[in-house]
Amino acid sequence: MELWLEKAGPWLEVLQRGVTVTVQVVKGRPRLVAMAAIATLSSVAVYKYITKNFDKWEKLGIPYEEGHFPYGSFNMGVISNMYTHLPEYHMKHCANSPYFGWYMFGQPVLNITDPEILRSILVKDFNNFVERSSYDGDFFKNGGKYDKLWGKQLTGLRGEEWKHVRATFSPIFTSGKMKGMLEFIKMTSDNMVEKFDESANGTDDVSLKKIFGCYTMDGLATAAFGMNVNSFGSEESLFTKYAAELFKINGLEVAKLMLKYLVPGMDFVLETFNINLWKKKETKFFYDVIKSSIKARREGRQERRNDLIDLMMDAITQDLPTDAEGQEQYEKDMTLKVDNNKAIDEDMVVATAMVFMMAGYDTTATTLSYASYRLSKHPEQQDKLQEEVDQAFADADGEFPDYSTIQSMTYLDMVIHETLRLHSPVPVNTREAGADYTIPGTNMHLKKGDLVSFVPTALQKDPAHWSHPDDFYPEHFSKEEKAGRSPYAFQAFGQGPRACIGMRFALLEAKVALVALCRKFTFLPSTKTQEPLVQDPSEQLLWPIGGLWVRLERRE
Ligand code: HEM
Repeated sequence: MELWLEKAGPWLEVLQRGVTVTVQVVKGRPRLVAMAAIATLSSVAVYKYITKNFDKWEKLGIPYEEGHFPYGSFNMGVISNMYTHLPEYHMKHCANSPYFGWYMFGQPVLNITDPEILRSILVKDFNNFVERSSYDGDFFKNGGKYDKLWGKQLTGLRGEEWKHVRATFSPIFTSGKMKGMLEFIKMTSDNMVEKFDESANGTDDVSLKKIFGCYTMDGLATAAFGMNVNSFGSEESLFTKYAAELFKINGLEVAKLMLKYLVPGMDFVLETFNINLWKKKETKFFYDVIKSSIKARREGRQERRNDLIDLMMDAITQDLPTDAEGQEQYEKDMTLKVDNNKAIDEDMVVATAMVFMMAGYDTTATTLSYASYRLSKHPEQQDKLQEEVDQAFADADGEFPDYSTIQSMTYLDMVIHETLRLHSPVPVNTREAGADYTIPGTNMHLKKGDLVSFVPTALQKDPAHWSHPDDFYPEHFSKEEKAGRSPYAFQAFGQGPRACIGMRFALLEAKVALVALCRKFTFLPSTKTQEPLVQDPSEQLLWPIGGLWVRLERRE
Protein backbone atom coordinates (compact mmCIF):
# COMPACT_ATOMS: atom_id res chain seq x y z
CA MET A 1 0.00 0.00 0.00
CA GLU A 2 2.77 2.36 0.96
CA LEU A 3 4.68 1.49 -2.21
CA TRP A 4 1.57 2.19 -4.25
CA LEU A 5 1.08 5.54 -2.54
CA GLU A 6 4.71 6.41 -3.15
CA LYS A 7 4.35 5.61 -6.87
CA ALA A 8 0.98 7.32 -7.32
CA GLY A 9 1.96 10.33 -5.22
CA PRO A 10 3.08 12.68 -8.00
CA TRP A 11 0.00 11.75 -10.12
CA LEU A 12 -2.38 12.35 -7.23
CA GLU A 13 -0.79 15.76 -6.79
CA VAL A 14 -1.36 16.55 -10.51
CA LEU A 15 -4.96 15.32 -10.23
CA GLN A 16 -5.57 17.44 -7.14
CA ARG A 17 -4.13 20.52 -8.84
CA GLY A 18 -6.28 19.81 -11.94
CA VAL A 19 -9.43 19.61 -9.83
CA THR A 20 -8.52 22.87 -8.00
CA VAL A 21 -7.92 24.73 -11.30
CA THR A 22 -11.16 23.36 -12.82
CA VAL A 23 -13.19 24.41 -9.77
CA GLN A 24 -11.64 27.92 -9.96
CA VAL A 25 -12.42 28.20 -13.69
CA VAL A 26 -16.06 27.07 -13.48
CA LYS A 27 -16.86 28.77 -10.13
CA GLY A 28 -19.54 31.35 -10.74
CA ARG A 29 -19.94 30.22 -14.35
CA PRO A 30 -22.99 27.99 -14.33
CA ARG A 31 -23.39 28.24 -18.12
CA LEU A 32 -19.92 26.79 -18.67
CA VAL A 33 -20.66 23.97 -16.21
CA ALA A 34 -23.96 23.22 -17.97
CA MET A 35 -22.29 23.19 -21.40
CA ALA A 36 -19.53 20.88 -20.20
CA ALA A 37 -22.11 18.56 -18.67
CA ILE A 38 -24.20 18.53 -21.87
CA ALA A 39 -21.12 17.90 -24.00
CA THR A 40 -20.05 15.02 -21.73
CA LEU A 41 -23.51 13.51 -21.61
CA SER A 42 -24.01 13.77 -25.39
CA SER A 43 -20.60 12.20 -26.03
CA VAL A 44 -21.49 9.33 -23.71
CA ALA A 45 -24.91 9.00 -25.36
CA VAL A 46 -23.39 8.93 -28.89
CA TYR A 47 -20.79 6.40 -27.73
CA LYS A 48 -23.47 4.19 -26.13
CA TYR A 49 -25.75 4.50 -29.17
CA ILE A 50 -23.06 3.52 -31.67
CA THR A 51 -21.58 0.68 -29.62
CA LYS A 52 -24.82 -0.77 -28.24
CA ASN A 53 -24.91 -3.67 -30.72
CA PHE A 54 -21.20 -4.40 -30.80
CA ASP A 55 -21.72 -7.76 -29.04
CA LYS A 56 -24.44 -9.03 -31.41
CA TRP A 57 -22.30 -11.40 -33.50
CA GLU A 58 -20.37 -12.75 -30.55
CA LYS A 59 -23.64 -13.59 -28.77
CA LEU A 60 -24.88 -15.43 -31.87
CA GLY A 61 -21.63 -17.40 -32.02
CA ILE A 62 -20.89 -16.75 -35.70
CA PRO A 63 -17.57 -15.58 -37.17
CA TYR A 64 -17.32 -11.79 -37.11
CA GLU A 65 -15.11 -8.72 -37.34
CA GLU A 66 -15.07 -6.64 -34.16
CA GLY A 67 -16.63 -3.18 -34.07
CA HIS A 68 -14.66 -0.12 -32.93
CA PHE A 69 -16.02 3.31 -32.06
CA PRO A 70 -16.99 5.28 -34.12
CA TYR A 71 -16.71 3.58 -37.52
CA GLY A 72 -17.43 -0.08 -36.84
CA SER A 73 -15.25 -2.89 -38.21
CA PHE A 74 -12.99 -0.56 -40.21
CA ASN A 75 -12.52 3.14 -40.84
CA MET A 76 -15.67 3.98 -42.82
CA GLY A 77 -14.52 7.62 -42.85
CA VAL A 78 -12.42 6.59 -45.86
CA ILE A 79 -15.10 5.18 -48.17
CA SER A 80 -12.62 3.35 -50.38
CA ASN A 81 -11.59 1.17 -47.42
CA MET A 82 -14.56 -0.96 -48.44
CA TYR A 83 -12.58 -2.11 -51.46
CA THR A 84 -9.82 -3.54 -49.31
CA HIS A 85 -11.30 -4.64 -45.97
CA LEU A 86 -14.50 -6.38 -47.04
CA PRO A 87 -12.85 -8.74 -49.60
CA GLU A 88 -10.19 -9.50 -46.98
CA TYR A 89 -12.88 -10.48 -44.42
CA HIS A 90 -14.73 -12.56 -47.02
CA MET A 91 -11.56 -14.55 -47.84
CA LYS A 92 -10.80 -15.03 -44.15
CA HIS A 93 -14.21 -16.53 -43.33
CA CYS A 94 -15.61 -18.08 -46.54
CA ALA A 95 -13.98 -21.51 -46.15
CA ASN A 96 -15.56 -22.05 -42.70
CA SER A 97 -18.89 -20.28 -42.84
CA PRO A 98 -21.51 -19.21 -45.41
CA TYR A 99 -21.71 -15.84 -43.63
CA PHE A 100 -19.92 -13.60 -41.15
CA GLY A 101 -20.85 -10.51 -39.18
CA TRP A 102 -19.34 -7.04 -39.40
CA TYR A 103 -20.29 -3.55 -38.24
CA MET A 104 -21.00 -0.53 -40.42
CA PHE A 105 -20.70 2.29 -37.87
CA GLY A 106 -23.06 0.91 -35.18
CA GLN A 107 -25.14 -1.20 -37.53
CA PRO A 108 -24.53 -4.98 -37.49
CA VAL A 109 -24.39 -6.39 -41.04
CA LEU A 110 -24.46 -10.06 -41.99
CA ASN A 111 -22.24 -10.65 -45.01
CA ILE A 112 -23.13 -13.63 -47.18
CA THR A 113 -20.28 -15.62 -48.74
CA ASP A 114 -22.37 -18.47 -50.19
CA PRO A 115 -23.85 -17.87 -53.69
CA GLU A 116 -26.78 -20.23 -53.09
CA ILE A 117 -27.88 -18.26 -50.03
CA LEU A 118 -27.62 -15.14 -52.17
CA ARG A 119 -29.93 -16.78 -54.69
CA SER A 120 -32.55 -17.18 -51.94
CA ILE A 121 -32.21 -13.58 -50.80
CA LEU A 122 -31.90 -11.88 -54.19
CA VAL A 123 -34.27 -13.99 -56.25
CA LYS A 124 -36.37 -16.67 -54.53
CA ASP A 125 -37.37 -14.68 -51.46
CA PHE A 126 -36.90 -11.28 -53.09
CA ASN A 127 -40.21 -9.95 -51.77
CA ASN A 128 -38.67 -9.99 -48.32
CA PHE A 129 -35.54 -8.12 -49.47
CA VAL A 130 -36.79 -5.34 -51.73
CA GLU A 131 -34.86 -2.46 -50.10
CA ARG A 132 -31.11 -1.91 -50.17
CA SER A 133 -31.18 -0.23 -46.77
CA SER A 134 -33.31 2.06 -44.66
CA TYR A 135 -30.72 4.84 -45.15
CA ASP A 136 -31.91 5.11 -48.74
CA GLY A 137 -34.88 6.83 -50.15
CA ASP A 138 -36.65 9.07 -47.73
CA PHE A 139 -33.96 11.72 -47.23
CA PHE A 140 -35.10 13.95 -50.09
CA LYS A 141 -38.76 12.97 -50.00
CA ASN A 142 -39.65 16.38 -48.57
CA GLY A 143 -38.02 19.70 -49.38
CA GLY A 144 -37.64 22.09 -52.30
CA LYS A 145 -38.80 21.26 -55.83
CA TYR A 146 -35.35 20.26 -57.11
CA ASP A 147 -34.31 18.38 -53.98
CA LYS A 148 -37.42 16.24 -54.36
CA LEU A 149 -36.15 15.00 -57.73
CA TRP A 150 -33.31 13.32 -55.83
CA GLY A 151 -35.89 11.62 -53.62
CA LYS A 152 -37.41 10.03 -56.74
CA GLN A 153 -34.27 8.19 -57.82
CA LEU A 154 -34.77 4.53 -58.56
CA THR A 155 -31.70 3.58 -56.51
CA GLY A 156 -33.31 4.80 -53.29
CA LEU A 157 -37.05 4.31 -53.85
CA ARG A 158 -38.74 1.89 -51.49
CA GLY A 159 -41.47 -0.73 -51.48
CA GLU A 160 -44.43 -0.45 -53.82
CA GLU A 161 -43.24 2.85 -55.26
CA TRP A 162 -39.92 1.29 -56.31
CA LYS A 163 -41.67 -1.78 -57.75
CA HIS A 164 -43.97 0.35 -59.83
CA VAL A 165 -41.26 2.64 -61.25
CA ARG A 166 -38.90 -0.26 -61.88
CA ALA A 167 -41.56 -2.31 -63.67
CA THR A 168 -42.52 0.71 -65.78
CA PHE A 169 -38.99 1.53 -66.91
CA SER A 170 -37.48 -1.98 -67.20
CA PRO A 171 -38.87 -2.57 -70.72
CA ILE A 172 -36.84 0.38 -72.07
CA PHE A 173 -33.69 -1.75 -71.64
CA THR A 174 -34.80 -4.90 -73.48
CA SER A 175 -32.50 -6.05 -76.27
CA GLY A 176 -35.02 -4.89 -78.89
CA LYS A 177 -34.80 -1.34 -77.49
CA MET A 178 -31.03 -1.48 -77.12
CA LYS A 179 -30.74 -2.12 -80.84
CA GLY A 180 -32.02 1.43 -81.34
CA MET A 181 -29.37 2.79 -78.96
CA LEU A 182 -26.53 1.45 -81.10
CA GLU A 183 -26.56 4.41 -83.50
CA PHE A 184 -26.15 6.94 -80.65
CA ILE A 185 -23.37 4.97 -79.03
CA LYS A 186 -21.53 4.42 -82.31
CA MET A 187 -21.57 8.16 -83.01
CA THR A 188 -19.94 8.93 -79.67
CA SER A 189 -17.38 6.17 -80.23
CA ASP A 190 -16.11 7.97 -83.37
CA ASN A 191 -15.02 10.96 -81.25
CA MET A 192 -13.36 8.63 -78.75
CA VAL A 193 -11.37 6.82 -81.46
CA GLU A 194 -10.24 10.21 -82.84
CA LYS A 195 -9.06 11.24 -79.37
CA PHE A 196 -7.05 8.05 -78.86
CA ASP A 197 -5.64 8.41 -82.36
CA GLU A 198 -3.94 11.71 -81.39
CA SER A 199 -1.54 9.73 -79.16
CA ALA A 200 -1.33 6.42 -81.01
CA ASN A 201 2.41 6.49 -81.73
CA GLY A 202 3.50 3.61 -79.50
CA THR A 203 5.37 5.89 -77.09
CA ASP A 204 2.88 8.38 -75.59
CA ASP A 205 1.39 7.36 -72.27
CA VAL A 206 -2.37 7.75 -72.43
CA SER A 207 -4.46 8.24 -69.30
CA LEU A 208 -7.57 6.10 -69.76
CA LYS A 209 -10.20 7.43 -67.38
CA LYS A 210 -10.61 10.91 -68.84
CA ILE A 211 -11.18 9.68 -72.39
CA PHE A 212 -13.54 6.88 -71.39
CA GLY A 213 -15.31 9.32 -69.03
CA CYS A 214 -16.01 11.64 -72.00
CA TYR A 215 -17.23 8.68 -74.04
CA THR A 216 -19.69 7.38 -71.44
CA MET A 217 -20.85 10.90 -70.57
CA ASP A 218 -21.60 11.66 -74.23
CA GLY A 219 -23.32 8.29 -74.64
CA LEU A 220 -25.66 8.99 -71.74
CA ALA A 221 -26.15 12.63 -72.80
CA THR A 222 -27.41 11.61 -76.20
CA ALA A 223 -29.32 8.48 -75.12
CA ALA A 224 -30.85 9.65 -71.83
CA PHE A 225 -31.05 13.45 -72.27
CA GLY A 226 -31.47 13.78 -76.04
CA MET A 227 -28.44 16.09 -76.23
CA ASN A 228 -25.50 15.87 -78.59
CA VAL A 229 -22.60 16.89 -76.41
CA ASN A 230 -19.00 16.53 -77.50
CA SER A 231 -17.01 16.31 -74.28
CA PHE A 232 -13.89 15.67 -76.36
CA GLY A 233 -14.03 19.17 -77.82
CA SER A 234 -11.76 21.90 -76.49
CA GLU A 235 -14.66 23.88 -75.03
CA GLU A 236 -16.35 22.38 -72.03
CA SER A 237 -20.12 22.19 -72.56
CA LEU A 238 -22.54 23.23 -69.82
CA PHE A 239 -23.79 19.64 -69.74
CA THR A 240 -20.32 18.25 -68.98
CA LYS A 241 -19.60 21.03 -66.48
CA TYR A 242 -22.80 20.53 -64.50
CA ALA A 243 -22.61 16.73 -64.73
CA ALA A 244 -19.09 16.86 -63.25
CA GLU A 245 -20.40 19.06 -60.40
CA LEU A 246 -22.94 16.39 -59.44
CA PHE A 247 -20.10 14.05 -58.53
CA LYS A 248 -18.40 16.55 -56.18
CA ILE A 249 -19.27 17.46 -52.63
CA ASN A 250 -17.85 20.30 -50.51
CA GLY A 251 -17.84 21.10 -46.79
CA LEU A 252 -20.73 23.57 -47.01
CA GLU A 253 -22.89 20.98 -48.77
CA VAL A 254 -22.08 18.38 -46.11
CA ALA A 255 -23.02 20.92 -43.42
CA LYS A 256 -26.36 21.67 -45.14
CA LEU A 257 -27.20 17.98 -45.39
CA MET A 258 -26.27 17.44 -41.74
CA LEU A 259 -28.57 20.30 -40.80
CA LYS A 260 -31.43 18.67 -42.68
CA TYR A 261 -30.66 15.35 -41.02
CA LEU A 262 -30.26 16.62 -37.48
CA VAL A 263 -32.65 19.55 -37.00
CA PRO A 264 -36.22 18.44 -36.22
CA GLY A 265 -38.84 20.22 -38.34
CA MET A 266 -36.30 21.18 -41.00
CA ASP A 267 -38.12 19.19 -43.68
CA PHE A 268 -41.28 21.15 -42.99
CA VAL A 269 -39.45 24.49 -43.36
CA LEU A 270 -37.71 23.40 -46.59
CA GLU A 271 -40.96 22.11 -48.05
CA THR A 272 -43.05 25.13 -47.05
CA PHE A 273 -40.59 27.70 -48.39
CA ASN A 274 -39.43 25.59 -51.38
CA ILE A 275 -35.79 25.73 -50.26
CA ASN A 276 -33.36 23.46 -52.13
CA LEU A 277 -30.21 22.25 -50.39
CA TRP A 278 -28.60 19.95 -52.90
CA LYS A 279 -27.02 21.09 -56.22
CA LYS A 280 -29.89 23.41 -57.12
CA LYS A 281 -28.21 25.08 -60.13
CA GLU A 282 -27.11 21.78 -61.67
CA THR A 283 -30.37 19.95 -60.95
CA LYS A 284 -32.37 22.83 -62.46
CA PHE A 285 -30.21 22.66 -65.59
CA PHE A 286 -30.92 18.94 -66.16
CA TYR A 287 -34.58 19.40 -65.24
CA ASP A 288 -34.96 22.17 -67.82
CA VAL A 289 -33.11 20.19 -70.52
CA ILE A 290 -35.41 17.18 -70.22
CA LYS A 291 -38.61 19.11 -69.66
CA SER A 292 -38.05 21.27 -72.74
CA SER A 293 -37.12 18.21 -74.78
CA ILE A 294 -40.32 16.43 -73.72
CA LYS A 295 -42.35 19.54 -74.53
CA ALA A 296 -40.73 19.96 -77.95
CA ARG A 297 -41.38 16.31 -78.81
CA ARG A 298 -44.98 16.52 -77.64
CA GLU A 299 -45.56 19.63 -79.76
CA GLY A 300 -43.89 18.02 -82.80
CA ARG A 301 -41.05 20.59 -82.84
CA GLN A 302 -38.49 17.84 -82.22
CA GLU A 303 -38.42 14.53 -84.04
CA ARG A 304 -38.81 11.24 -82.26
CA ARG A 305 -35.33 9.75 -81.73
CA ASN A 306 -36.26 6.49 -79.98
CA ASP A 307 -33.79 7.43 -77.26
CA LEU A 308 -34.33 6.75 -73.56
CA ILE A 309 -36.52 9.87 -73.17
CA ASP A 310 -38.89 8.70 -75.92
CA LEU A 311 -38.93 5.23 -74.42
CA MET A 312 -39.58 6.53 -70.90
CA MET A 313 -42.40 8.71 -72.21
CA ASP A 314 -43.84 5.64 -73.96
CA ALA A 315 -43.45 3.66 -70.76
CA ILE A 316 -45.48 6.10 -68.68
CA THR A 317 -48.26 6.38 -71.24
CA GLN A 318 -48.53 2.77 -72.43
CA ASP A 319 -47.40 -0.74 -71.54
CA LEU A 320 -44.16 -1.62 -73.28
CA PRO A 321 -43.85 -5.36 -73.97
CA THR A 322 -40.82 -7.19 -72.55
CA ASP A 323 -39.05 -9.51 -74.98
CA ALA A 324 -38.13 -12.62 -73.01
CA GLU A 325 -36.68 -14.44 -75.99
CA GLY A 326 -33.05 -15.51 -75.64
CA GLN A 327 -32.77 -14.27 -72.04
CA GLU A 328 -30.11 -15.79 -69.81
CA GLN A 329 -31.10 -17.06 -66.36
CA TYR A 330 -30.06 -13.89 -64.56
CA GLU A 331 -32.11 -11.77 -66.95
CA LYS A 332 -35.17 -13.94 -66.22
CA ASP A 333 -34.41 -13.55 -62.50
CA MET A 334 -34.64 -9.77 -62.91
CA THR A 335 -38.26 -9.89 -64.08
CA LEU A 336 -40.63 -8.12 -61.73
CA LYS A 337 -44.37 -8.61 -61.75
CA VAL A 338 -46.48 -5.70 -60.47
CA ASP A 339 -50.25 -5.34 -60.59
CA ASN A 340 -50.92 -1.75 -59.62
CA ASN A 341 -51.20 0.85 -62.31
CA LYS A 342 -50.46 4.16 -60.63
CA ALA A 343 -49.59 7.01 -62.96
CA ILE A 344 -45.96 8.09 -63.17
CA ASP A 345 -45.37 11.76 -63.88
CA GLU A 346 -42.78 13.59 -65.98
CA ASP A 347 -40.73 14.47 -62.90
CA MET A 348 -40.08 10.77 -62.53
CA VAL A 349 -38.72 10.74 -66.10
CA VAL A 350 -36.35 13.59 -65.19
CA ALA A 351 -35.27 11.87 -61.97
CA THR A 352 -34.70 8.58 -63.77
CA ALA A 353 -32.60 10.17 -66.53
CA MET A 354 -30.48 11.77 -63.78
CA VAL A 355 -30.00 8.48 -61.94
CA PHE A 356 -28.97 6.79 -65.19
CA MET A 357 -26.22 9.37 -65.53
CA MET A 358 -25.13 9.07 -61.89
CA ALA A 359 -25.14 5.26 -61.94
CA GLY A 360 -23.94 4.68 -65.48
CA TYR A 361 -21.23 7.22 -66.27
CA ASP A 362 -18.37 6.35 -63.94
CA THR A 363 -19.06 2.62 -63.63
CA THR A 364 -18.84 2.06 -67.39
CA ALA A 365 -15.81 4.36 -67.84
CA THR A 366 -14.01 2.50 -65.03
CA THR A 367 -14.80 -0.88 -66.62
CA LEU A 368 -13.46 0.25 -69.99
CA SER A 369 -10.29 1.60 -68.39
CA TYR A 370 -9.56 -1.69 -66.63
CA ALA A 371 -10.41 -3.70 -69.77
CA SER A 372 -7.92 -1.69 -71.88
CA TYR A 373 -5.29 -1.94 -69.16
CA ARG A 374 -5.79 -5.73 -68.92
CA LEU A 375 -5.59 -6.15 -72.71
CA SER A 376 -2.35 -4.14 -72.79
CA LYS A 377 -0.87 -6.62 -70.28
CA HIS A 378 -2.22 -9.76 -72.00
CA PRO A 379 -1.21 -9.71 -75.70
CA GLU A 380 -2.44 -13.26 -76.29
CA GLN A 381 -5.97 -12.40 -75.22
CA GLN A 382 -5.78 -9.11 -77.12
CA ASP A 383 -4.80 -10.97 -80.33
CA LYS A 384 -7.76 -13.27 -79.89
CA LEU A 385 -10.14 -10.36 -79.41
CA GLN A 386 -8.72 -8.52 -82.43
CA GLU A 387 -9.26 -11.65 -84.53
CA GLU A 388 -12.90 -11.77 -83.52
CA VAL A 389 -13.30 -8.04 -84.22
CA ASP A 390 -11.61 -8.31 -87.65
CA GLN A 391 -13.86 -11.23 -88.56
CA ALA A 392 -16.96 -9.22 -87.59
CA PHE A 393 -15.84 -6.31 -89.82
CA ALA A 394 -15.02 -8.73 -92.67
CA ASP A 395 -18.50 -10.30 -92.40
CA ALA A 396 -20.01 -6.81 -92.60
CA ASP A 397 -17.96 -5.88 -95.71
CA GLY A 398 -15.79 -3.51 -93.71
CA GLU A 399 -18.71 -1.72 -92.02
CA PHE A 400 -19.14 -1.45 -88.24
CA PRO A 401 -20.82 -4.71 -87.10
CA ASP A 402 -24.57 -4.49 -86.45
CA TYR A 403 -26.32 -5.11 -83.13
CA SER A 404 -26.86 -8.86 -83.54
CA THR A 405 -23.25 -9.41 -84.65
CA ILE A 406 -21.96 -7.49 -81.62
CA GLN A 407 -24.20 -9.61 -79.39
CA SER A 408 -22.83 -12.80 -80.97
CA MET A 409 -19.16 -11.91 -80.32
CA THR A 410 -18.55 -14.39 -77.53
CA TYR A 411 -14.92 -13.55 -76.79
CA LEU A 412 -15.72 -9.84 -76.51
CA ASP A 413 -18.41 -10.68 -73.97
CA MET A 414 -15.97 -12.92 -72.07
CA VAL A 415 -13.29 -10.18 -71.94
CA ILE A 416 -15.75 -7.63 -70.49
CA HIS A 417 -17.17 -10.03 -67.92
CA GLU A 418 -13.69 -11.11 -66.89
CA THR A 419 -12.73 -7.45 -66.44
CA LEU A 420 -15.79 -6.93 -64.25
CA ARG A 421 -15.00 -10.09 -62.29
CA LEU A 422 -11.61 -8.73 -61.28
CA HIS A 423 -12.56 -5.06 -61.07
CA SER A 424 -16.19 -4.62 -60.04
CA PRO A 425 -16.77 -0.88 -59.67
CA VAL A 426 -19.36 -1.36 -56.89
CA PRO A 427 -17.60 -2.55 -53.69
CA VAL A 428 -20.54 -3.92 -51.73
CA ASN A 429 -24.29 -4.46 -52.17
CA THR A 430 -26.85 -4.60 -49.39
CA ARG A 431 -30.41 -5.77 -48.77
CA GLU A 432 -32.64 -5.10 -45.80
CA ALA A 433 -34.95 -7.79 -44.39
CA GLY A 434 -38.58 -6.65 -44.75
CA ALA A 435 -39.76 -9.25 -42.19
CA ASP A 436 -38.20 -11.87 -39.88
CA TYR A 437 -36.46 -14.51 -41.98
CA THR A 438 -34.51 -17.71 -41.43
CA ILE A 439 -31.70 -18.27 -43.89
CA PRO A 440 -32.53 -21.55 -45.67
CA GLY A 441 -30.52 -24.55 -44.50
CA THR A 442 -29.17 -22.71 -41.42
CA ASN A 443 -30.39 -21.65 -37.99
CA MET A 444 -29.48 -18.03 -38.66
CA HIS A 445 -32.54 -15.86 -37.98
CA LEU A 446 -32.77 -12.33 -39.35
CA LYS A 447 -35.11 -9.82 -37.76
CA LYS A 448 -37.14 -7.26 -39.73
CA GLY A 449 -34.79 -4.38 -40.53
CA ASP A 450 -31.58 -6.43 -40.34
CA LEU A 451 -29.05 -5.72 -43.04
CA VAL A 452 -27.24 -8.28 -45.21
CA SER A 453 -24.36 -7.54 -47.56
CA PHE A 454 -22.35 -9.28 -50.27
CA VAL A 455 -19.05 -8.29 -51.85
CA PRO A 456 -18.85 -8.76 -55.65
CA THR A 457 -15.05 -8.84 -56.07
CA ALA A 458 -14.66 -11.25 -53.16
CA LEU A 459 -17.24 -13.74 -54.49
CA GLN A 460 -15.64 -13.29 -57.88
CA LYS A 461 -12.17 -14.20 -56.62
CA ASP A 462 -13.24 -17.01 -54.33
CA PRO A 463 -11.23 -20.10 -55.42
CA ALA A 464 -14.27 -22.25 -54.65
CA HIS A 465 -15.96 -20.89 -57.79
CA TRP A 466 -13.22 -19.84 -60.21
CA SER A 467 -10.49 -21.96 -61.82
CA HIS A 468 -7.93 -19.09 -62.09
CA PRO A 469 -9.16 -16.65 -59.41
CA ASP A 470 -6.27 -14.16 -59.56
CA ASP A 471 -5.52 -14.27 -63.30
CA PHE A 472 -7.08 -12.42 -66.19
CA TYR A 473 -8.67 -15.49 -67.75
CA PRO A 474 -11.66 -14.70 -70.04
CA GLU A 475 -12.32 -18.47 -70.40
CA HIS A 476 -13.96 -18.25 -66.96
CA PHE A 477 -17.00 -17.19 -69.00
CA SER A 478 -16.87 -20.03 -71.51
CA LYS A 479 -19.95 -22.30 -71.63
CA GLU A 480 -18.06 -25.12 -69.90
CA GLU A 481 -16.75 -23.04 -66.98
CA LYS A 482 -20.12 -21.32 -66.51
CA ALA A 483 -21.86 -24.70 -66.36
CA GLY A 484 -19.53 -25.77 -63.53
CA ARG A 485 -20.33 -23.00 -61.01
CA SER A 486 -23.24 -21.22 -59.39
CA PRO A 487 -24.38 -18.29 -61.56
CA TYR A 488 -24.75 -16.30 -58.30
CA ALA A 489 -20.97 -16.21 -57.84
CA PHE A 490 -20.90 -13.32 -60.36
CA GLN A 491 -22.38 -10.21 -58.79
CA ALA A 492 -20.88 -7.22 -60.65
CA PHE A 493 -24.39 -6.05 -61.59
CA GLY A 494 -26.13 -7.62 -58.60
CA GLN A 495 -28.84 -10.20 -59.34
CA GLY A 496 -32.61 -10.54 -59.10
CA PRO A 497 -35.29 -7.87 -59.61
CA ARG A 498 -33.18 -5.15 -57.90
CA ALA A 499 -30.06 -5.78 -60.02
CA CYS A 500 -28.62 -3.07 -62.26
CA ILE A 501 -31.35 -1.88 -64.62
CA GLY A 502 -28.78 -0.42 -67.02
CA MET A 503 -26.71 -3.59 -67.46
CA ARG A 504 -27.59 -4.08 -71.13
CA PHE A 505 -26.85 -0.43 -71.91
CA ALA A 506 -23.51 -0.63 -70.06
CA LEU A 507 -22.48 -3.84 -71.83
CA LEU A 508 -23.43 -2.45 -75.24
CA GLU A 509 -21.49 0.77 -74.59
CA ALA A 510 -18.43 -1.18 -73.44
CA LYS A 511 -18.65 -3.59 -76.39
CA VAL A 512 -18.94 -0.83 -79.00
CA ALA A 513 -15.93 0.95 -77.50
CA LEU A 514 -13.75 -2.17 -77.51
CA VAL A 515 -14.81 -3.16 -81.03
CA ALA A 516 -13.97 0.33 -82.33
CA LEU A 517 -10.64 0.49 -80.48
CA CYS A 518 -9.43 -3.07 -81.18
CA ARG A 519 -10.15 -2.59 -84.86
CA LYS A 520 -7.85 0.42 -85.05
CA PHE A 521 -5.24 0.05 -82.30
CA THR A 522 -3.19 -2.35 -80.23
CA PHE A 523 -2.93 -1.53 -76.54
CA LEU A 524 0.61 -1.69 -75.13
CA PRO A 525 1.56 -1.54 -71.45
CA SER A 526 2.67 1.80 -70.00
CA THR A 527 5.23 2.12 -67.24
CA LYS A 528 3.17 4.99 -65.79
CA THR A 529 0.66 2.56 -64.24
CA GLN A 530 1.80 1.92 -60.66
CA GLU A 531 1.85 -1.83 -60.07
CA PRO A 532 0.68 -3.73 -58.15
CA LEU A 533 -2.57 -1.77 -58.35
CA VAL A 534 -3.51 -0.32 -54.96
CA GLN A 535 -6.90 1.32 -54.32
CA ASP A 536 -6.55 5.12 -54.08
CA PRO A 537 -7.94 6.18 -50.66
CA SER A 538 -8.87 9.63 -52.00
CA GLU A 539 -11.29 8.07 -54.54
CA GLN A 540 -14.90 7.24 -53.65
CA LEU A 541 -15.06 4.62 -56.40
CA LEU A 542 -12.78 1.83 -57.56
CA TRP A 543 -9.61 3.43 -58.89
CA PRO A 544 -5.89 2.73 -58.32
CA ILE A 545 -3.27 5.17 -57.03
CA GLY A 546 -1.66 6.88 -60.03
CA GLY A 547 -4.48 5.88 -62.43
CA LEU A 548 -4.47 3.49 -65.39
CA TRP A 549 -2.34 4.14 -68.46
CA VAL A 550 -1.60 2.46 -71.79
CA ARG A 551 0.29 3.19 -74.97
CA LEU A 552 -1.35 2.66 -78.33
CA GLU A 553 -0.09 1.54 -81.70
CA ARG A 554 -2.07 1.92 -84.92
CA ARG A 555 -2.83 -1.41 -86.60
CA GLU A 556 -2.03 -1.91 -90.30
C1 HEM B 1 -20.28 -1.47 -65.98
C2 HEM B 1 -21.21 -0.63 -65.60
C3 HEM B 1 -22.14 -0.82 -64.43
C4 HEM B 1 -22.00 -1.59 -63.30
C5 HEM B 1 -20.83 -2.47 -62.92
C6 HEM B 1 -23.19 -1.40 -62.51
C7 HEM B 1 -23.42 -2.02 -61.30
C8 HEM B 1 -24.58 -1.86 -60.55
C9 HEM B 1 -24.83 -2.52 -59.30
C10 HEM B 1 -23.89 -3.50 -58.60
C11 HEM B 1 -26.04 -2.12 -58.86
C12 HEM B 1 -26.72 -2.56 -57.56
C13 HEM B 1 -27.35 -3.91 -57.79
C14 HEM B 1 -27.90 -4.56 -56.55
O1 HEM B 1 -28.18 -3.88 -55.55
O2 HEM B 1 -28.08 -5.79 -56.60
C15 HEM B 1 -26.58 -1.19 -59.84
C16 HEM B 1 -27.80 -0.56 -59.73
C17 HEM B 1 -28.27 0.35 -60.65
N1 HEM B 1 -27.66 0.70 -61.85
FE1 HEM B 1 -25.92 0.00 -62.57
N2 HEM B 1 -24.03 -0.53 -63.16
C18 HEM B 1 -23.43 -0.16 -64.34
C19 HEM B 1 -23.95 0.69 -65.31
C20 HEM B 1 -25.19 1.27 -65.26
C21 HEM B 1 -25.79 2.08 -66.32
C22 HEM B 1 -25.15 2.37 -67.68
C23 HEM B 1 -26.98 2.54 -65.84
C24 HEM B 1 -28.04 3.38 -66.54
C25 HEM B 1 -28.15 3.54 -67.82
C26 HEM B 1 -27.16 2.00 -64.50
C27 HEM B 1 -28.24 2.24 -63.69
C28 HEM B 1 -28.45 1.65 -62.46
C29 HEM B 1 -29.61 1.92 -61.63
C30 HEM B 1 -30.73 2.93 -61.93
C31 HEM B 1 -29.50 1.10 -60.51
C32 HEM B 1 -30.51 0.99 -59.36
C33 HEM B 1 -31.56 -0.04 -59.73
C34 HEM B 1 -32.68 -0.19 -58.71
O3 HEM B 1 -32.52 0.15 -57.55
O4 HEM B 1 -33.74 -0.69 -59.13
N3 HEM B 1 -26.05 1.24 -64.18
N4 HEM B 1 -25.67 -1.05 -60.86
